[in-house]
Amino acid sequence: APISPKVASVFRPALFKGKVAIVTGGGTGIGKAITQELLHLGCKVMIASRNEERLKAAAKLMQDQLKCNTSAELAHMQCNIRKEEQVKDLISSTLSRFGKLDFLVNNGGGQFPSPASGISLKGWHAVIETNLTGTFLCCREAFNQYMADHGGVIVNIIADMWKGFPGMSHTGAARAGVDNLTKSLSIEWAHHGVRINSVAPGSSIYSETAAANYGDPNIFEATIPLVPAKRLGTVEEVSAAVCFLLSPAAAFISGETLRVDAGASLYSSRWTIPDHSKTPAYKWSTDVGEDDLESNSPTTPS
Ligand code: ADE
Repeated sequence: APISPKVASVFRPALFKGKVAIVTGGGTGIGKAITQELLHLGCKVMIASRNEERLKAAAKLMQDQLKCNTSAELAHMQCNIRKEEQVKDLISSTLSRFGKLDFLVNNGGGQFPSPASGISLKGWHAVIETNLTGTFLCCREAFNQYMADHGGVIVNIIADMWKGFPGMSHTGAARAGVDNLTKSLSIEWAHHGVRINSVAPGSSIYSETAAANYGDPNIFEATIPLVPAKRLGTVEEVSAAVCFLLSPAAAFISGETLRVDAGASLYSSRWTIPDHSKTPAYKWSTDVGEDDLESNSPTTPS
């Protein structure tokens, strides 16, 4: 695992004092790093996740890290973002608890490795509903319940699906959908003072949650040669990009996608295709007779 930086944030202390954020999937991996940095910067944060046990444990750990003189506060709420009623409840409970909602970070999501041929309809729907529909519901409710009248900033966490996502085609389709949703909403909601952007972490971002999910500790080490930086990325390096987009430094940035992958998506693919001869060449001249050539060719003298 890469070394995580010891500093809690490069940004100015109290940058987000008086701000309120929701981070879905805020108890693990990238979401937990985002939550910790927001708290460090004085933000009040509501973390939400489907898995209540893990969420509670993470909330307790981060609560214990809070300094006694901070403006930061942490709350947590069980929420399955696939369920419309639960998402409505997450937004309204956050508004009751903290009185406002400045930031929404749609980080909650999930997928499982499988060739497309082996993805059941149930598995397909689960991934689309969590990553695409869940993000849509959170955006819509945050907007309808608060941001339409008060403005706000939304960041959607997507993935490195720029060359497709072979091996996890469901999440590739869902994340590409979220990237396009981001662009639509940036236009529809601009005159409400809402900015919305996506952050696309590379597959080389190491998190223990991701390592456990994929069940192979070597999956990360094997990607290092494919990363121009020749190292894995950290969850803190994703969090920094999210905090930048939430901050006033990004006041003129909306509808944009920020890749946090050290250029890996420009460089190579980790997918290997076995040798094969299943792509026969197009035999363009086979059925063309002399008559056709004479009548069709402008260079043939008549
Ligand atoms: N993280 C992963 N899946 C989730 C879900 N369905 N709801 C909220 N957070 C999640």
